[in-house]
Amino acid sequence: MSESKRTMIVTSALPYANGDIHLGHLVEYLQTDFWVRFQKMRGNRVVYICADDTHGTPIMVRARLENTTPEQLIERSYKQHTSDFASFEIAFDHYGSTNCAENHGFVDQIYAAMKEKGFVSTKKTKQFYCDNEKMFLPDSFLVGVCPKCGAPNQYGDSCEACGQTYSAEELKSPRCKFCGKEPSIRECEHLYFELEPSRDFLANLVPQIVTPDIANKLLEWFNEPLRGWCISRDAPYFGFEIPGHPGKFFYVWVDAPINYMGTLLAWCKEHGQSFDDWWQNPGTEIYHFIGKDIVRFHCLFWPTMLHAAGFRLPTKVFVHGFLTVDGEKMSKSRGTFIQAKAYLKYLKAQDLRFYYACKLNSTTDDLDLNTEDFVNRVNSDLVGKITNLASRGAQMLQKHFGRKLGKMDAAGEETWKHALAIADVIADDFENRNFSKAMVELRKIADEANQYFDSMAPWALVKQDSEAARQVLTSILNIFRTMAIYLAPILPSYAVRVAKLFREEPYTWDDLTKRLEDVEIETYEYLATRIDPKNIEALLEENRKLGAVPPPPPKPAAVQSVPVKETIDYDTFAKADLRVAKVLQAELVEGADKLLRLSLDIGDGHPRNVFAGIRKAYDPASIIGRSVVMVANLAPRKMRFGVSEGMILAAGNPDGSLFLVTPDEGAIPGATVK
Ligand code: 2FM
Ligand code: ZN
Repeated sequence: MSESKRTMIVTSALPYANGDIHLGHLVEYLQTDFWVRFQKMRGNRVVYICADDTHGTPIMVRARLENTTPEQLIERSYKQHTSDFASFEIAFDHYGSTNCAENHGFVDQIYAAMKEKGFVSTKKTKQFYCDNEKMFLPDSFLVGVCPKCGAPNQYGDSCEACGQTYSAEELKSPRCKFCGKEPSIRECEHLYFELEPSRDFLANLVPQIVTPDIANKLLEWFNEPLRGWCISRDAPYFGFEIPGHPGKFFYVWVDAPINYMGTLLAWCKEHGQSFDDWWQNPGTEIYHFIGKDIVRFHCLFWPTMLHAAGFRLPTKVFVHGFLTVDGEKMSKSRGTFIQAKAYLKYLKAQDLRFYYACKLNSTTDDLDLNTEDFVNRVNSDLVGKITNLASRGAQMLQKHFGRKLGKMDAAGEETWKHALAIADVIADDFENRNFSKAMVELRKIADEANQYFDSMAPWALVKQDSEAARQVLTSILNIFRTMAIYLAPILPSYAVRVAKLFREEPYTWDDLTKRLEDVEIETYEYLATRIDPKNIEALLEENRKLGAVPPPPPKPAAVQSVPVKETIDYDTFAKADLRVAKVLQAELVEGADKLLRLSLDIGDGHPRNVFAGIRKAYDPASIIGRSVVMVANLAPRKMRFGVSEGMILAAGNPDGSLFLVTPDEGAIPGATVK
């Protein structure tokens, strides 16, 4: 603890604004949060930053489907994300957004530097283009038949049925995911960041910033010339436009990592600090926590950009594995794809923090959330072995000794010293992100403390020698206090409640050396309770139900107010060809007291004959000349009175009254309704 204080910038990967935070994300944010809290407890200067990753095609498309703007969408997601993170006690020093001026400035600066160094090239490529949507279709917006196994409805880059990956041109019968139409192939020009000129720099850097297993995998790329990285996307795109290339935007993966700096700058402005004193200071350590799927971006592309523009490089990139639940990939149908907010309806954030700590280490192995083990760890270790020491100890002290501690007895003091003796071991484990090992050490202490407690049996001793019993309770509470300090990075609010119990300030690592004797403590209040396994079952059950039905598809504004009982997927909806139609003729149908026969103009010179059940609501003469909305591609239906070639839309109130759906003035017959 005498070592000099370090200065650190720590980041977690930026979650996409396009999705909710789930338990898989939390592996990373919790791991980083544990580490940052530990570093802060040691007295180091740390800034922990993160932000929403807001740019890209998915956000733009979703905004379009929800009839909103990307800006509104990312604002909504920002609120949800920051609230989820706060609920799990993840304490960023600053949580920003990639869509900010600070980021934009750095992006332009780095692009200019890359250009000046001659690292930017242009190439012509061919890409699928949807003439209907007027956009180039990225892989995830193409659907078609898998070229390997023939499974239908697969995306443009990989098949979910057989696992094969392929390039978009190989996909059979490609169609646009939105309109279902066959795309054309168009030539387009794209900008590339060339990596080959940075070959030696990267080959030298990679082994310094990641573990050998990851470095070796990355270095496999170096057996061939390093391929350039395509950094441009065509409009429509939500992002930063590339200077000098109107209609072209930076690919989201360019501005996402750059926003580590953008967010730091935003924090600096807020706190009157200088960006250069932090990022550019040779004494500052820069750490990125990431998942194993995004190593290439962080260890090849990102350092190349930093280096070109003269920015300092990451000290280390810490790579973790994925989350599995009960040994399998998270799955919507099994109910194990669990969102942060769904989890919190049934379980406590503290319990997940504790469990992840029991499982996390510094490798890229996947972390398994085994639901049975989860209940056991929390109930038997956190509550049974650790927290019970405090609840039993403090409550007995209250009952018999007016909450006043005495001195420690010899055997108890010995056990307390054992607990203290592992401080450096635990600190090393935390430093090296071997949280699970630290928790094993902690469990050993808890076992020893419980043995001591049970062998001394203060509940019986108090009747014979009350002062001896007070000594035992004093020892137990000191041992517990030591454990709570070790746990503080993992269970921050728990540790704060423990500090309150002992009338102390929130703990730092230096508080370990202090002993508590002859002082009064507070009344014991809740620290942790057992998990009822029924809650886990209820959570999974609720999730399974959600997973069984595909999430409600975003609906275009035109049909948003129609009550929907069952959800349909977007593709199904998109099949309906809705058109503006003008009523040319309307007449009663003999023998059918609900129907009117309509002749509808949909702009193609072939009036359609439609029988509509609106006779009770509309007098035929009153609707001639009126615009309505027609389902134009409904299969013709033979009725007693003739063939009906479509349907028209009407709103039905619960009392049975009907109201025709009419477009605003200006829509002409044949206009598509979407
Ligand atoms: O993979 C992802 O979820 C990305 N949004 C991570 C970006 S991390 C960084 F580079 F900004
Ligand atoms: Zn299309």
